[in-house]
Amino acid sequence: MKENDKDRIIVAASIEQLAMKGAELFRRIAVDSVARRDRFSVALSGGSSPRPFHRLLAEEPYRSGIPWSHTHIFWVDERLVPPEDPASNFGTARKDFLAHLPIPLSQVHPMSSEKVPHQAADDYQRTLSSHFGTSAAGAPVFDLVVLGIGTDGHTASIFPGDRAAIETDRWVVAVTGGSPNVDRLTLTLAVLERARRVIFIVSGRQKAATVRTILIDDTALPPRLIAPAEGMVTWLLDRDAADLLPDGLDGIDRANI
Ligand code: 6PG
Repeated sequence: MKENDKDRIIVAASIEQLAMKGAELFRRIAVDSVARRDRFSVALSGGSSPRPFHRLLAEEPYRSGIPWSHTHIFWVDERLVPPEDPASNFGTARKDFLAHLPIPLSQVHPMSSEKVPHQAADDYQRTLSSHFGTSAAGAPVFDLVVLGIGTDGHTASIFPGDRAAIETDRWVVAVTGGSPNVDRLTLTLAVLERARRVIFIVSGRQKAATVRTILIDDTALPPRLIAPAEGMVTWLLDRDAADLLPDGLDGIDRANI
């Protein structure tokens, strides 16, 4: 599967160690980004997989080890529900860690859930342009994008076969689908594939077959379409999610982390 020798597959012994590895990678990338560019721009996914590592970010050593004053938080996708709704990716992240950190509110950029989908998508495209520069400069280049995968092989809210999977002009599109099956916004591949670092964080045996399909088989599932020419992709898996990967898979690091 390895698109290039920069991609890595790290297998953690447990969900807890997966969260610790995720938080440590997040910290390292944040510190490096601020050292190089005086800011750290990251796009987060929703769902349950990233929540253990999100919660760690509000605790030491990450609370004081990450340059929050220079960090800008965006979302990879959002369900168009109010922030108070348990399905809200922003609302969940706010509860899990953002509300407990010294990050300026002006640096937290949720996708609007109060507007009709295409207007919310236009709004977020403007939010991205304001932060990264206009489309004349090319699609936004995030320092880090954190992604999950569904058992159907979706990532972000780019579902297999959906037009969003092949959108290359717009940076944000409105879609419907997933679980819950609601209106959503999602960043497109035009943005995701430009990131300097991409981390897929996947746990649970129910995803082992999908992980194998994506990493081993010849597939056009959305996660395989994210192969940044200048960036690096890291797959952070727990043992259950990595269960169907061959031991000798090139680039796999079964560190007992
Ligand atoms: C979303 C997520 C989505 C998620 C996967 C995995 O808003 O639904 O961004 O892409 O990452 O569906 O979700 P779980 O981590 O809950 O399995």
